[in-house]
Amino acid sequence: MTRQLSFMLISLATAVTITDSQIKDSSPILFGLMFEDMNHGGDGGIYGELLANRAFQGDNPSADHYYGINANISLSDEALSDALPHSLYVDGDGFYNDGYWGINVQEVEYTARFYHKGNNTPTSVVLKNMDDNKQLASITPTAVTKDTATHLAHSNGFQLYEAKLTPSINASGLNNGLCIYGSGHFGLVSLFGPTYKDRPNGLRKDVAQAVAGMGSHFLRFPGGNNLEGPGGPETRWKWNETVGPLTNRPGRQGDWQYPNTDGLGLHEYLDWIEDMSMTAVLVVWSGLTMEHYTVPDDELQPYIDDVMNELEYILGDESTEYGARRAVNGRQQPWSVQYVEIGNEDFFDTTMSYGYRFDAFNKAIKAQYPNITTIASTNFGISQFPIEETWQDEHLYLSPSELIGRFSYFDNYPVNKTSIFIGEYASSNDRNELANVYEAISEAVYMTGLETNSDKVKGACYAPLIDNSSDDNKYRPDLIELDAASVKLSTSYQVQKLWATSQGDYILTLQDAAFNPLYYVANIKGDTIHVKIANIGGDRQQFNAIIDVDGFINGSATAQGISSSDPNAETVDIETWNVTYSNGQLSLNLQTYAAGIISITK
Ligand code: AHR
Repeated sequence: MTRQLSFMLISLATAVTITDSQIKDSSPILFGLMFEDMNHGGDGGIYGELLANRAFQGDNPSADHYYGINANISLSDEALSDALPHSLYVDGDGFYNDGYWGINVQEVEYTARFYHKGNNTPTSVVLKNMDDNKQLASITPTAVTKDTATHLAHSNGFQLYEAKLTPSINASGLNNGLCIYGSGHFGLVSLFGPTYKDRPNGLRKDVAQAVAGMGSHFLRFPGGNNLEGPGGPETRWKWNETVGPLTNRPGRQGDWQYPNTDGLGLHEYLDWIEDMSMTAVLVVWSGLTMEHYTVPDDELQPYIDDVMNELEYILGDESTEYGARRAVNGRQQPWSVQYVEIGNEDFFDTTMSYGYRFDAFNKAIKAQYPNITTIASTNFGISQFPIEETWQDEHLYLSPSELIGRFSYFDNYPVNKTSIFIGEYASSNDRNELANVYEAISEAVYMTGLETNSDKVKGACYAPLIDNSSDDNKYRPDLIELDAASVKLSTSYQVQKLWATSQGDYILTLQDAAFNPLYYVANIKGDTIHVKIANIGGDRQQFNAIIDVDGFINGSATAQGISSSDPNAETVDIETWNVTYSNGQLSLNLQTYAAGIISITK
C-alpha cells in the first residue's frame, strides 16, 4: 500500500489524536507490587528456605515434615534459643525433612545448616530421593566457628553445622529429602538453593526472577491482613522480631492459617526492594487487629513508639539507637523509605476510630520525618478524607464488568483533594487459581483508567502476588502460581508486566477518543511514546491514531501484547503485534480480547 493510500484510509476511519499540547504528570511509581505471606507465597514461596517447619514455630508446634531414619523422633522442649523454644529429638540413625510439598533437587549448589546438641557429632548430610533411596549428594557437615548476620555459631549449647551439597544429577521427582545422620537435639534445620542476587538468607531465585520480570516500581509490604494479627495486638507482625540472627526470630502464627518463620523479615524485604530497584511502601500497624479489636486512645502510645523505632531502624544513621542495631544486624547504610501506610484496611472513619488512631500515628511520623508521604487506609467516600497531603488507599476485588466500569472513576476526582493509592485490586468472577484472559484484560482497562489519571492516582498494586498451588488454603487468583519445581505466570502477570515496563513521565492528551470496547492511554518517556491499549471485546478492532508530538513524525513503532480468541484461556504469552506508523499516522488492527503496548520512538 502506498503511503498516500494508507494516509487516506486512516483519514477516513475514526482516529484519535495524541498530542502533547497539554500534558499531565505521571506518578513515577504508578504500577507496583503488594506482598504479604499468604498462600505460602513467602514461606514455601519466594523466601529461599526449602525445608518446611524448620524451627517448630507457630501456635501448635509439631514435628510435621520430619521423619526418622531408623530412629524415633519427637518434638522436644530443649530450647535452641529464647525465641525458638523447641527442637527435634532424634534417637537412632537420623532423620529427614521433606520440604514444602517436595524439594526440587537439581545440579546446583545447596547449603544445608542446622543446630545440634548431643554427645555425637552428626556424621553426614545427604540429599536423597525418598522413592528409591538414591543419594543425590552427600557430605560430612562442618562445625561453624564464626557468627554471621543471620546465623550465630552457637546458641544455648547447640552448635551450628553447615554442609554444601552439589548433586551431579537432577532428581527425577519432588519426593526428595534432606537427610541428616546423627542423634540428639536438632534445631533450625535449613536448606537453601541458589538465591536471587546470591543474598544469604535470600529469595528463591526462579521465583524472584519472575517477580523482577514485571518491572514493578514499588513493593507494598508486609500486609495485608498478615500485618494485623489473628488475635490481639500481641499477634501482629512485629518488625523487631523479624530482624537479626534467625535464632532470635520466634516467628508467628500469621493471619493465613500457617506459621510464619519470619526468615523473610524486615531486612530481607528491604533488600528485595533494593535488588529490584523498587520503592518501599511500608505498611505499619496502627492499632487494629484482623478481628477488629481497636487499641483505645490512651493505650496507643507504645504502638506509636514501636513504629517510630522501626523507622529509626530503617532510616537512622549508626549514631541512633536503632540505626546502630541495624548495623549490628549487618546493614550499615540506612535504607530509603518515602511512603508509609498507616494500617491495613483500617477503613479510617468515625466508626473505626479514624479520629484518634490515624491522627496519632500520622502526627508522630510527620513530626520526625516531614518528607515521608503517609497513606491512610480507608475506603470511606474517597473524596471526603480531610488531610490533603496524605494519600488514601482503597482496595477493590471486583468482577471484570465492575472493574471495567471503574475506567473513568477518577476522571472528575477533584485535584485539590488527597491523592489515591490502590493498595490491592484484582478482577475475578470465579476465583480460579489463575485469572483468565477476560479478567486480565479487564484489569488492563482499569489500569488504563488509573494511568489516565495518574496525576491523582499515585500508585496501584495487584493482590495477592504469589500462591504455592500445593497449599489448600487459597486466596485466588494470584499473579504467580508456583510449586517446589515450577513457576507459572498468569495472564494478569503479563498485563502487569506490559503496563509497568512502559510507564511514562507524562500523560499525553487524547482528542476525539472513544472508548468501549477499546480503551487506551498514551504517555511519553524521553524519546518514546507508549500507547497502552486494551480490546475487551470478542471482535477484532481497528485502532488509528495521529501522533501530534514534536519530533515523532518520522519515528518508528513496534507493538507487543497478549490476545486470545478464548476469553477463558488461562495462559497466554506476550507476542509481537503488527503495527504501521508513517508520517505521524498510527494504525493497528487489534485481536479479540487483547491488551498491549505500542512504542513509538523518534
Ligand atoms: O489480598 C488478600 C487480602 O485482601 C489482604 O490481606 C487484605 O488486605 C484484603 O482484604
